[in-house]
Amino acid sequence: MLKNKKTTISVKDLVYPLFVREGIGICEEIPSMPGIYRFPLDAIARETRALVKLGIGAVLLFGVPTGKSREGSEAYKKDNVAAKAVTKLKRKFPDLTVMTDVCLCAYTSHGHCGVILPGCRTIAHKTTLDALCRMALSHAEAGADYVAPSAMAKGQVWAIRRALDAHGFKDTGIMGYSAKYASNFYGPFRDAANSSPLFGDRSAYQLGFSNSASAMKEIAADIREGADIVMVKPALAYLDIIREAANRFRAPLAAYNVSGEYAMVKHGAKLGLWNEKKVVLEIITSIKRAGADLVITYHAKDIAKWLKER
Ligand code: PBG
Repeated sequence: MLKNKKTTISVKDLVYPLFVREGIGICEEIPSMPGIYRFPLDAIARETRALVKLGIGAVLLFGVPTGKSREGSEAYKKDNVAAKAVTKLKRKFPDLTVMTDVCLCAYTSHGHCGVILPGCRTIAHKTTLDALCRMALSHAEAGADYVAPSAMAKGQVWAIRRALDAHGFKDTGIMGYSAKYASNFYGPFRDAANSSPLFGDRSAYQLGFSNSASAMKEIAADIREGADIVMVKPALAYLDIIREAANRFRAPLAAYNVSGEYAMVKHGAKLGLWNEKKVVLEIITSIKRAGADLVITYHAKDIAKWLKER
């Protein structure tokens, strides 16, 4: 039976994505995502202080390296950019929940989410799992609260859980990008992370948008493999998937309100199509109403400000 329950948004439900780039210098605004920046390491604490002041309790970090390679080893080298950012944030803001994206696409020269061996055009599965484990470990060592594998490599949650446990990181959680669709809405993110594939697309490892059953299978698999939080991504065009997952599974459910969804709202507001605040609150409420416990959104900072004004 449908309950007549009112859905509300709290700042505690929000996770803010942060792009951290290697090196020092200026904060670069991402042209396709007005208001979102790539922060150099030396600016990340200042930005985070503002977030914490607004009551935001969690961030999801994306490292943007200067060097890329075929195997993406910059992702797990000693003192990689994401690990450095984690160390810094956990030292200054111990109560902040720091989550990190674990995927190779920003680190590989070909832009795919896994390792592609010379002469091949498909992802080498075992080598990719090893690389993802090393990446996750480097973040855990730096103090990450959650690692979030998003490469859609089969068994990635299980492999990372085992690697974390074997190295004494039993308390590091895993947020699986469980139901990650091969979506057109990731365009602006690929600008931000400089991670567009040089050839082909991600349809071999991300889900096709006409299918809902495989999303449920992926979520069930991630839970079995040890995910503490599961995710549906994107959010707005997938509210039915969120609802179904919320009905079926008890694990905390996150929904990723992705870069393209953000860009639409921002550009529409600029054109005078709608009031930004009203449309954002409507969208985020709909994602929560569908059943998400957590919403990862580039609007988090604005929402936190608006909630304070109330
Ligand atoms: C990495 C990753 C992607 C996003 C988050 N992690 C992009 C992709 O699959 O190409 C997209 C997030 C967004 O669009 O905001 N695999």
